[in-house]
Amino acid sequence: MIEMNGPEKPVIIDTDPGVDDALALILALRSPELHVKAITTVNGNTSLRQSTENALRILEIVALPDPPPVIPGAAIPLNREPIPSASIHGRDGLGEITFLKDRRGKKKYTPPRHKPEPTYAPGAIIELVNEHPGEITIITLGPLTNIALALQTDPGLSRHVKEIITMGGAYSVPGNVTPAAEFNFYCDPEAAQEVIGSGIPLTLVGLDVTRSARLSRHALMNATKKRTRLNQFLRDSTEFVMDFYREREGYHGCCVHDALAVMAAIDGSIIGTKRAHVEIETEGKLTAGMSVADLRPYARGKTGAPNATIALYVDSTRFEQQLLERITDA
Ligand code: RIB
Ligand code: CA
Repeated sequence: MIEMNGPEKPVIIDTDPGVDDALALILALRSPELHVKAITTVNGNTSLRQSTENALRILEIVALPDPPPVIPGAAIPLNREPIPSASIHGRDGLGEITFLKDRRGKKKYTPPRHKPEPTYAPGAIIELVNEHPGEITIITLGPLTNIALALQTDPGLSRHVKEIITMGGAYSVPGNVTPAAEFNFYCDPEAAQEVIGSGIPLTLVGLDVTRSARLSRHALMNATKKRTRLNQFLRDSTEFVMDFYREREGYHGCCVHDALAVMAAIDGSIIGTKRAHVEIETEGKLTAGMSVADLRPYARGKTGAPNATIALYVDSTRFEQQLLERITDA
């Protein structure tokens, strides 16, 4: 029985599906606390075209009676070359499920029937936020290019967005794509800095906590015994990335970075936080995309007043339990 954590919260989810994005979207779409007003897609884990196709696939798997629109956004970062697709998510960005065939040799996952909206994500974000000033929470699961473009187009947006909850950064731990930088901020450091400097209330859910936001293969297999299309998708789409974790660190499961950002929007008590001043390195040769947080107990010197709420602790047991309860068909 899923207990509600408070009244329904209208959200926009900006995403680059991505396997962990997929689980995060399923969590958001199946949680009564959130009203997903739109899904906007961005280049990141995979190309914009693939991210958008994957978002449409995920919607069809969840099969809501009234699904939110999928609106494509930026195909490249603000002013850098896109980095090659992240291999951890497979060639199709969803754990290679599009290469799976059934016993008769037929593709298990065919292209989505629905199409994306013919609009553009930054403009759609501006329109939705201005229609509901002070009410919309934006949850970002990929590079921040769309949000930065929306702010550049309509700077007044920073007064009308209720909050941004971002999966991104590494504040007291090493990065993942370089020793200094986490993937989403590394892809587009300028966009990350634009959003962090906007003054919008910001919760940053970085690798400090998402590395502990894990889904074990055993728990997933146990929770998806009922033969449904959704349960099968959860098994199929995580197999590839779980192999990656098993080979790399002997862990039979995977981190579900993005799902923790969504869970924090559903139930803020899942994370422990600290206010701090954060800036993104946009010039460094070795440190581009690094999220520099002043976590010193007595912040000295000119780092400026705290401008973000950083997640430093997570209840990882409750996270895995609540995630499985919400995304699987029991
Ligand atoms: O560093 C983790 C982030 O990069 C997640 O959003 C994952 O989907 C990848 O985009
Ligand atoms: Ca992502």
